Amino acid sequence: MKDSSYLKVIAIDGPAGSGKSTVARIVADRMNMIYLDTGAMYRAVTYYLIRIGFFESKSSDICSILNSLKLEFNDSKILLNGKDISEEIRSPRIDAEVSDIAKRKEVRAFLTEMQRKIAKRGNVVIEGRDIGTVVIPEAPLKVFLTASVKERARRRYLQLRSKGIETDIKKIEKEIRKRDEIDSTRKLAPLVKPRNAVEIDTTNLSVEEVVNMIIEMGKERFEKT
Ligand code: CDP
Repeated sequence: MKDSSYLKVIAIDGPAGSGKSTVARIVADRMNMIYLDTGAMYRAVTYYLIRIGFFESKSSDICSILNSLKLEFNDSKILLNGKDISEEIRSPRIDAEVSDIAKRKEVRAFLTEMQRKIAKRGNVVIEGRDIGTVVIPEAPLKVFLTASVKERARRRYLQLRSKGIETDIKKIEKEIRKRDEIDSTRKLAPLVKPRNAVEIDTTNLSVEEVVNMIIEMGKERFEKT
């Protein structure tokens, strides 16, 4: 039987730079739905672990650390124990560490539960790497966004530059390839196209085109349910 609590959920998965965040945010806005960026959650946990020196202290118990952490969402901001860390979690240091943290069983269990709780309320566009496969496989619309590595590196480069972060496009491409490799080969919840997901290659599509495709499909699916 279908789980009715997930009736109005759009699950968007895909690799870094495939346009998930940009597209998901606009779709949510136009369809009057909540936007949930699960990557920001993994980034926030990584930020916290770096800040408390987790990597240096071998004896730390990750479960108790996670339980001392409060994540909240306020509009498009993410708050960690009350502090807005939306900017800090986008740093190259976090880019480099996040996939290793996201491999951990305790971290995934902790965040997956939190994501399901939010999605159960319905009316959510939720994006990440394992939403359609593990977090909410029963979502009525599952989308898998892709794009060539070169195009994804170019997008990330422009994004960082617009924030005043100077970097090298080759370095970004290498980092993206490395993250793709870790994310798609890990044992737990690897990045793969979910069953029944609609795949959209965004390499040569504008944001507007992708947004419109998803909104059309969303309306059609939600009418049926
Ligand atoms: O924005 P970008 O696509 O570069 O990355 P993100 O969506 O912020 O996700 C950062 C990292 O978190 C990914 O590379 C994954 O390692 C991890 N992640 C995950 O494992 N599962 C998710 N549902 C979302 C992100």
